[in-house]
Amino acid sequence: MTKFNTTIIGSGPGGYVAAIRCAQLGMKTALIERYSTLGGTCLNVGCIPSKALLDSSEHFENASKHFEAHGIKAEKIELDWPRMRQRKDDVVEQTCAGIEYLMKKNKITVINGHASFKDKETISVVAAGGTQQTVNTERVIIATGSKPSSIPGVVCDKKRIITSTEALSLENVPEKLIVIGGGVIGLELGSVYARLGAEVQVVEFLDRLIPGMDFSLAKEVQRILKKQGMKFFLSHAVQSATVSGEKVKVSALNKKGEEVEFNGDYCLVAVGRRAYTDKLGLENIGITPDKQGRIPVNENLETAVPGIYAIGDVVAGAMLAHKAEEEGTFVAEKMAGQKPHINYKAIPGVLYTWPEAAGVGFTEDELKAENYNYKSGSFPFKALGRARASMDTDGFVKVLADKETDEILGIHLVGARAADLIAEAVVALEYRASAEDIARMSHAHPTYAEAIKEAMLDATGKRSIHM
Ligand code: FAD
Ligand code: NAI
Repeated sequence: MTKFNTTIIGSGPGGYVAAIRCAQLGMKTALIERYSTLGGTCLNVGCIPSKALLDSSEHFENASKHFEAHGIKAEKIELDWPRMRQRKDDVVEQTCAGIEYLMKKNKITVINGHASFKDKETISVVAAGGTQQTVNTERVIIATGSKPSSIPGVVCDKKRIITSTEALSLENVPEKLIVIGGGVIGLELGSVYARLGAEVQVVEFLDRLIPGMDFSLAKEVQRILKKQGMKFFLSHAVQSATVSGEKVKVSALNKKGEEVEFNGDYCLVAVGRRAYTDKLGLENIGITPDKQGRIPVNENLETAVPGIYAIGDVVAGAMLAHKAEEEGTFVAEKMAGQKPHINYKAIPGVLYTWPEAAGVGFTEDELKAENYNYKSGSFPFKALGRARASMDTDGFVKVLADKETDEILGIHLVGARAADLIAEAVVALEYRASAEDIARMSHAHPTYAEAIKEAMLDATGKRSIHM
């Protein structure tokens, strides 16, 4: 029987990238996936379908509301929701097929079925039809990802009380959508349906949105999305959600302890995700998940069992596709005896609403908590020629830098194309640039990126040119 050098369990962005890198480095590699399509959460029910719907709904919103200001008369704009959903499904299908092609190209053996450890070098795989096979391997990378979680009092029936997975494929656009959780999923999918005409109410436990991102972004995003019609109920602790026929009732306690009731035809539960290790047989190899169900790993992403590694959403850290990808590459290179490195502080976070929000490095609250001697600079998009030309004037760039050395510590922005602009901030952090370095670099005119240069000029002696 073939013995693989490395077997990867899970074909999400962590797993498939790890598989490709292992194969590139000369390892005989197997990839096990329990679903019939490759790509994991990200490609099937996460990043890709959500962005496809965000893009389509943004076109709809622009055509319905913003074309006129550009001198374009478009009458009778109508939503063809089945077509919009189908386009999303087509994008997913093509993207997943692309991963299959990459597996073949890199001579990776793909095995379909649910993997479970028998011992550290033997994995049992049971296919959907029940057939079982055994995989022998020298090393394993666990990349089994995550699943949506819920809260006490709220059970997802997946029909009216739904997770992000169902929200990506609803039969109809809801009239009234209640969203529990004002994090990334709540705001992105809430945006999709708000643009398509739903009344969207976001009920959030904390006194702010998008926890983890800089507070200034949360405030600005809330202001802009409110303007777009979304309603926010912060500091509301959801107690229960109940279905009656085609209606859902959500009950929450506000800051004063009063009960507040929300009524809608769907309730999207977006309160975070949990690591997924169900029936993986971890007990057979002596791995015990932590209290949050994640697999504990050391600085090499190796578990307590030598030769068994874990990456992506199933381990601690940000639940992001690009974080999982970096970890996949890292582990493959470690196994091959290389000296890879991941700077977790330089992994950006992005919110794909319109405008987008993005951040990397330390938030201002983190620096304050550490009593760090920092300075800041900022620049609003409304003072930018490019933003005025496109009428995308909401938002700003904020830079945080060491007050003495001028080293950039964090960059946070809300505005058009923030998701792409953050790449410059990542380069700046990775190369430990000073604000002065970026301030002195030429930025093409007119571009949104000029806002970054201007914020750097503001941080270094308040010498922004266009403010
Ligand atoms: P996953 O992608 O979850 O893949 C794990 C795979 O392992 C799955 O295919 C699963 O079937 C398989 N598996 C599990 N157990 C077994 C087993 N025992 N045997 C065989 N196979 C198994 N992140 C971003 O960076 N940007 C975004 O824009 C973004 N948008 C998102 C939108 C939504 C709606 C959601 C839900 C998530 C989004 N994410 C986004 C998060 C991103 O999808 C995850 O961080 C990423 O998919 C994690 O990758 P992973 O490889 O660790 O796990
Ligand atoms: P999240 O952690 O971003 O947000 C969950 C929100 O729910 C938080 O604001 C939290 O305070 C709130 N909440 C928790 N309990 C609550 C309660 N009882 N009542 C009301 N609110 C409550 O998680 P989310 O949005 O579910 O996303 C899961 C993961 O998927 C994230 O970790 C993210 O990394 C990933 N993702 C990334 C995207 C991106 O990169 N653009 C897009 C979508 C998902």
